[in-house]
Amino acid sequence: MEAMHASVLGSGYVGATLAACLADLGHDVTAVDIDKTVVERLNAGDPPIAEPGLDELYSKHVGDRLRATTDYDAVLDTDLTFLTVQTPAREDGSIDLSVVLAAAEQLGETLAAKDDYHLVVVKSTVIPGMVEEEVVPAIEAASGKREGEGFDVAVNPEFQSQGSAVEDFMQPDKIVLGTDGDNGPDRALARLHEVYEPLVERSGAPIVETGRREAAMIKYANNVFLASKISLINEIGNVCKEYDVDAYEVADAIGLDERIGAQFLRSGAGFGGSCFEKDTKALIAAARAADYEPELLDAVLGVNETQPRRMLELLDDHVDVAGKRAAVLGLAFKSGTDDTRGTRAFPVIDGLLDRGAEVVAYDPVAIENTREQYPDIEYADSAAAALDGASGALVVTDWDEFAALDEEFTTMAEPVVIDGRRIIEPTDDIVYEGLTW
Ligand code: UGA
Repeated sequence: MEAMHASVLGSGYVGATLAACLADLGHDVTAVDIDKTVVERLNAGDPPIAEPGLDELYSKHVGDRLRATTDYDAVLDTDLTFLTVQTPAREDGSIDLSVVLAAAEQLGETLAAKDDYHLVVVKSTVIPGMVEEEVVPAIEAASGKREGEGFDVAVNPEFQSQGSAVEDFMQPDKIVLGTDGDNGPDRALARLHEVYEPLVERSGAPIVETGRREAAMIKYANNVFLASKISLINEIGNVCKEYDVDAYEVADAIGLDERIGAQFLRSGAGFGGSCFEKDTKALIAAARAADYEPELLDAVLGVNETQPRRMLELLDDHVDVAGKRAAVLGLAFKSGTDDTRGTRAFPVIDGLLDRGAEVVAYDPVAIENTREQYPDIEYADSAAAALDGASGALVVTDWDEFAALDEEFTTMAEPVVIDGRRIIEPTDDIVYEGLTW
């Protein structure tokens, strides 16, 4: 294989992982970010995001084939540039392209000085059409070049999960290459194949060649499908609970049907994170903008809002928490991360505060991120301390340490435990309610 020279614009969660993984595949990589602190940390081998295996990759490759800079001119020495900046949500759920467009413009200004062909690869999550209608014109205007002449733009979405980003990159289910520049896709595709050849050799992952619009939609369809699967099993689970049926036994059995599949069938408190809700809302907004009413996608979000409410209603069945301590166990949107974006713990906390409870919350790593949102609730430094004297506990994150809780429940004033993640071992000492079992 011939090593490529790649630049990566944006060193957030996707970009920081991508840069290190590309270097590990044998490429020469420069991460470009406008944030000086981020660049310094990357160059010191200390990436600003916590992902298993990532520190090791930076230690291994910085000073050799991996470096970071704030200088866009670094792009000039590279064969291709990945755009990995964020596409945040607007008030109405549609995506805000301004960060992508600012990066595209700066990239275009830089490319004006490059004589050789350059490939631009959009990894940021974008609605179909945005690349052709907004990103390409921004690069063209700033560079003074036409797409298909000095450069091409491809779409290559990312499917990494938080907590397993390096592993997901290195062992992907698929590599999606979306191309269709004005001069035909051949040149862009050839370059992308060169970049991913070592990954295909290592992982055996299939390459999906498709158009840019399809590639952009594949990212949304992938996430929205998974979000829908969770909401569907949650809805089934809610009905199960009413009929005294264990939704997990049902899920285990239906998961054996290969058409359904065993993964993403854990019912409970619902999905959090920075992607499922945002991407579902973005697709809903895109559908409405095209005058299509997305009934099912609305329901996917609706069920996800229902789950924390049902946890609170189950609590109400056993205890009135007004004026009493109530414990929330788990604040991160899933175990293995300190990220609280979209966490189901926040609607649970809101519901408890609405009921006049004194909320005491515990999480092994996500307390600081929660404090920004809820500065006035009490934070405990252990699950045991949170449970002490509490009338009711709601379990929102599946941290392993919660599975070991036992005696700790006996210190509760009213030992009512509502489990939103099927992680607590029920005992005779507690009133235990599983959300969907
Ligand atoms: C998700 C996708 O899984 C990735 O493929 C995608 O690349 C990423 O979004 C993205 O677009 O960046 P992530 O949000 O990191 O990854 O986390 P997941 O592991 O998918 O979990 C999301 C939420 O769903 C969590 O709150 C989790 O607790 C919940 N979940 C997951 C369930 O409630 N039940 C399940 O069976 C599985």
